[in-house]
Amino acid sequence: MQVITTGKEMQAFSRKIRTEGKSIGFVPTMGALHEGHLSIVSRSVEENDITLVSIFINPTQFGPNEDFNKYPKDHKGDMEKLLSLNVDAVFLPDVAEMYPQGYSTFVYVGGIGGILCGASRPDHFNGVATVVTKLFNTVMPDRAYFGQKDYQQTVVISKMVRELCFDIDIVVCPVVREADGLAMSSRNAYLNEEERKAASILSKALEYGKELIMSGREQQTSLIKSKITALIQSEPLASIDYVEIVGPQYLEVVKEVKTPAVIVLAVKIGNTRLIDNIIVESN
Ligand code: PAJ
Repeated sequence: MQVITTGKEMQAFSRKIRTEGKSIGFVPTMGALHEGHLSIVSRSVEENDITLVSIFINPTQFGPNEDFNKYPKDHKGDMEKLLSLNVDAVFLPDVAEMYPQGYSTFVYVGGIGGILCGASRPDHFNGVATVVTKLFNTVMPDRAYFGQKDYQQTVVISKMVRELCFDIDIVVCPVVREADGLAMSSRNAYLNEEERKAASILSKALEYGKELIMSGREQQTSLIKSKITALIQSEPLASIDYVEIVGPQYLEVVKEVKTPAVIVLAVKIGNTRLIDNIIVESN
């Protein structure tokens, strides 16, 4: 497994592979890898000749009072996990490589980046789109793999890829969960024992909402939302950032129940903000 730290070397590596006619699958990450990340990496290894993984904690997607400085890191563990999955190369740039002194070019994603998570994290999706653009231009993949766990991120990236004409297929992979339903996340490491137990309320609330929609008993999403909200509020450690029922492609708020729809939520457990979602499709 090659470890590459500069954009120039990364581009040379990818260009060589492409001239050999091999396909490149790419999985961008911020490291502290868990089973959720690894399931995506395995999918890429299955579907491509060569798989490249990037690990870069991207400062431009963190707000001023967010956890950039304490974001979990596990370099040794990450390398071992990727080696065991037969990843071909890891791209590990540092901040100065990605954003040299005087850096000023950003991708602006517009309104889709200002709703849901973007309402409380104003520049987050512009930062994600900027770093993913840079990574795409450096790695030059045929396919790029993202997790449904960050549903809004998949919508923003798919839209950006269409609108900026990237010749890259975006593959969205299912959410990987712990035994009690909690979606795996590097940020779960911030939870203490009590909070970790409380955090299962997110997936319980999503399952409950899905059942309500599927039962056909309620037609108004506002009623379903308030029932989901009440369930989450029954957990004393939980405070809701948002709960919404949205359309799968444009994330527009859905007023009357229809499928497919996505229930998306962000909830703080103690000081840790967690996100999750569930897609509701008719059988
Ligand atoms: P990160 O949070 O490290 O996630 C990397 C990829 O793993 C994302 O596509 C995310 O959706 C996926 N993922 C995380 N937890 C998952 C789970 N439980 N099940 C399935 N997939 C999961 O998302 C980012 O990094 C960054 O925003 C990035 C795209 C790398 C840009 O900096």
